[in-house]
Amino acid sequence: MKMKMTMILLSSSMLLSLVSSSAESQAQEQQTLLKLKELWHDPSPLASWTASPIASSHCGWPEVTCHDDGSVSELHLYYKDIRYPIPQIVCDLSNLTFLDVGNNSIPGGFPTVLYSCTKLTYLDISQNYFVGPIPGDVDRLPGLSHLIVTGNNFSSDIPGSIVNLKNLRELSIGQNQFNGTYPEGIFGMSSLEVLSLAYNYLLLPSRMPSNLTMLKRVRSLGLTMMNLLGDIPDSIGDMFALEYLDLGINNLTGQIPDSIFKLKNLTHLYLWGNSLSGTIPRVVESLNLAVIDLSMNNLIGTIPEDFGKLQRLSNLVLMYNNLSGQIPESVGRIPSLTDVRLFYNQFSGMLPPDFGRYSALTRFEVAMNNFTGGLPENLCFNGKLLGLAAFGNNFTGSLPRSLGNCSSLLQVMINDNNFSGNVPEGLWSSPNLLILKLNDNILTGDLPDVFSPSLTHIIISNNRFSGSIPGGFSSAKSLQVLQASHNLLNGTIPVELTDLPQLNSLSLGGNQISGEIPTNILSWNSLGALNLSHNQISGLIPEALASLSVLTELDLSENKLSGIIPPQLGQIKFTFLNLSDNFLTGSIPSYFENGAYENSFLNNPGLCTSDRSVKLRLCNAEPTSWRRIRLSYLALIITVTVASLALASLLVLYMICTFRKKNSVFNPTWKLTPFHKLSFTESDILPGLHEHNVIGSGGSGKVYRVPVSQSSEVVAVKKICNSRKLEHRLEKEFLAEVEILGRIRHKNIVKLMCCISCENVKYLVYEYMANRSLDRWLHKKRMPSSVVTDRRVLLDWPQRLHIAIGAARGLSYMHHDCCPPIIHRDIKSSNVLIDSDFDAKIADFGLARMLLVHGEAATMSTVAGSFGYMAPEYGRTHRVNEKIDVYSFGVILLELTTGKEPNDTDDDVCLAEWAWQHVQEDKPIVDALDPDLREESNLREMVSVFKLAATTQQ
Ligand SMILES: *[C@@H]1O[C@H](CO)[C@@H](O)[C@H](O)[C@H]1NC(C)=O
Ligand SMILES: *[C@@H]1O[C@H](CO)[C@@H](O)[C@H](O)[C@H]1NC(C)=O
Ligand SMILES: *[C@@H]1O[C@H](CO)[C@@H](O)[C@H](O)[C@H]1NC(C)=O
Ligand SMILES: *[C@@H]1O[C@H](CO)[C@@H](O)[C@H](O)[C@H]1NC(C)=O
Ligand SMILES: *[C@@H]1O[C@H](CO)[C@@H](O)[C@H](O)[C@H]1NC(C)=O
Repeated sequence: MKMKMTMILLSSSMLLSLVSSSAESQAQEQQTLLKLKELWHDPSPLASWTASPIASSHCGWPEVTCHDDGSVSELHLYYKDIRYPIPQIVCDLSNLTFLDVGNNSIPGGFPTVLYSCTKLTYLDISQNYFVGPIPGDVDRLPGLSHLIVTGNNFSSDIPGSIVNLKNLRELSIGQNQFNGTYPEGIFGMSSLEVLSLAYNYLLLPSRMPSNLTMLKRVRSLGLTMMNLLGDIPDSIGDMFALEYLDLGINNLTGQIPDSIFKLKNLTHLYLWGNSLSGTIPRVVESLNLAVIDLSMNNLIGTIPEDFGKLQRLSNLVLMYNNLSGQIPESVGRIPSLTDVRLFYNQFSGMLPPDFGRYSALTRFEVAMNNFTGGLPENLCFNGKLLGLAAFGNNFTGSLPRSLGNCSSLLQVMINDNNFSGNVPEGLWSSPNLLILKLNDNILTGDLPDVFSPSLTHIIISNNRFSGSIPGGFSSAKSLQVLQASHNLLNGTIPVELTDLPQLNSLSLGGNQISGEIPTNILSWNSLGALNLSHNQISGLIPEALASLSVLTELDLSENKLSGIIPPQLGQIKFTFLNLSDNFLTGSIPSYFENGAYENSFLNNPGLCTSDRSVKLRLCNAEPTSWRRIRLSYLALIITVTVASLALASLLVLYMICTFRKKNSVFNPTWKLTPFHKLSFTESDILPGLHEHNVIGSGGSGKVYRVPVSQSSEVVAVKKICNSRKLEHRLEKEFLAEVEILGRIRHKNIVKLMCCISCENVKYLVYEYMANRSLDRWLHKKRMPSSVVTDRRVLLDWPQRLHIAIGAARGLSYMHHDCCPPIIHRDIKSSNVLIDSDFDAKIADFGLARMLLVHGEAATMSTVAGSFGYMAPEYGRTHRVNEKIDVYSFGVILLELTTGKEPNDTDDDVCLAEWAWQHVQEDKPIVDALDPDLREESNLREMVSVFKLAATTQQ
């Protein structure tokens, strides 16, 4: 009886325990997760992980997925600001199959604690700080289907045991420091769908009997890349499941095996940056290929006809090889093709006429080949074309009409060809166009009346453009470079041309321009080079030229200029001055009386010098006093006129300002939103917003330097204008900037003090940076004259290094210490500001956006960023993560070390590519450095920074 009772009691408690077991184990798993969070020191992205009496509540946390029975199956911890090792207790989640801790800051060796997670199939520990080898017993995770360790600092060999992972479908081990060997069997792993071995130090056992001397670690110029050395084995053709193969940036030699293009499931093939030679296999059966990137090798021969069969191909990237022959016509008709990069090869013949007709091309880059005939008519048929680079070929005929109706265009470079006829009307005013290079062709016609306000470079020299110089240039407010020399332009220099405050270089030499040089040129305060030579310009050299504070190159030779050389011009330390072949008179300013200017004044019969080092007659004879007097009268009259004009315009400005001031003071709707403790109110700021205080203009509006009344403080005020058409976009830009910047506090990030807004005008008030932006210092453009008296003082190396470190700190703060991380998206030297202590601060968050993280980098709908700084993958995929900033920062480092401009339009390749070529060609790095700074004491640091920069570009 007693026994029976016990039996009954026992069984009922068993039943009870059965019912509650699942709830119990769930509660336990919740405890485990909370413990995990605690061991990771509560990273803030896991704030939603809080204890709850509901046992299964953790299954609703965004990072956690559960099985049907309530046990935890997946942990999605990508980008969660984790900075501590993975603890053993993770495996207490006994049914865990999926663990993604990518893109955190986890230190230590390979997480062998995970060996107890017996059901783990998916492991992603990419983009962390793991070091050391992948252990030899990694096959203790036999269930793995995905092993993703990309972007760590793993080193040594890839263990042979990795081939025992028979279920492995993805093996991504690129971007590490592996410096040993691969197991030979890796290319026989027939289950693999994804194999990424890019950017490593690995050596591949050659197919020949193994030769140990070949297995020596090979370093290329100390860059942090090492090499898969040897041939790609034919056996790769047995990896039938392969979809994604990335062997980029290694030192692969030999031919591309035919067997690669027989892999039916292959979609992505990256073999770029190796030393592959021979031809591209003729027979292509990989009909799913979407990306073929064979660039930067030594390939010869033609593009296989079979490429035309690749109906899913979107990226055809073959630049920097020695490929030749014609492009198969069928390639032009591939319906998914968006990105074509064939530059720097030996291709010839006509381009297939259908390019762009059947697919939405975004990049079409065929520069530096031997193409002939015309450009395909429909490159922009689908309205997505961003960049067209066709320079350095033998193209003929007129430009396709359709380019005039392609509003997506950012950059058009078709220089150095034989294009003729008129430029399609709409091209000049294409709303997003930044760079238009048409030079060295035989183009004709008048220049238009309207230019795109986005244009920064218009380069049309050495053509046959005719007619007068249009006043419409005043619409190109962002213009930095205007080169129109050696055309057939006539008429006078329109006053509108002097209203370009960003203009850095103006070249109109070798035309038929007449009339006088405008005298009201003070808005040319960014102008560094002015070339008006070989025209029919008459009148006097305006004194105002002497007040252009950054002018260093002046060529007015071969004109009909008369009168004296304004003595004030002697204050400018020209690096190039040519006033020869004019009718100038009088003696030259004494500053020019030295050998450096010996050829600057030739063939001016009326000029003389008191110094023999200049090739002029000596002024020993009495100057004709009559003429002197006449001249000084003339000068006086001009001075008076200029002065009174200036006075009048001041008066007008003053009136406008007071009118505005009244308007604004009495406008009750101003709202000030402070982000810091302020010593001023809107009424201290608003009166200072007038033209005299303008110091620049950005994409969205003017920037003012405003001294705060009743205090010594100076602030920078950025106006967000309210052009009706753009209102919505700008409003969004504005809100983004305010939201982000207002919350940031960091020494190397420009401080946003407050925001002043009313219904339709908005101002952002920043701390003022006395030394303006970095680009002005590096590229010998405008330097703030208030700070620098000798304009040729440039930043020395210790200052540059200090700026680099400051900017890096600011960037690092945004990426690693802000939550969620902030991606700037438009890092460039003009967005790095310098304060009076030469500390760098990052500015202009107009383009930054919060990064949305759910295992995927946010995909931006529009391509922002500036050319020359844009990471290649950004232009290509629009995928955004911090790396695009790092890439852009690398470009800044290159600018700091080389002194070159990021998009040096003289070289036709951007700085990043130039540096890459320099490294590829094994040239000494010292030759790439800024010649002004090549002192022994700097070299070691400069070389390391250059190398560092070059690595960020890969
Ligand atoms: C794991 O799954 C098994 C089978 O589905 C189940 O019996 C077990 O209770 C689960 N483990 C946990 C801790 O929930
Ligand atoms: C590989 O790198 C590790 C760590 O940097 C180093 O200790 C080891 O000596 C290197 N091995 C070879 C073969 O260079
Ligand atoms: C191994 O390769 C090196 C360099 O390629 C060569 O000099 C050497 O003779 C080779 N050794 C053998 C055993 O083949
Ligand atoms: C690539 O390997 C070859 C030998 O096979 C070597 O001569 C060359 O320097 C290597 N290139 C790089 C960039 O490491
Ligand atoms: C190739 O892809 C198809 C479709 O995804 C799949 O059914 C097939 O199994 C794959 N082939 C191999 C060998 O994995």
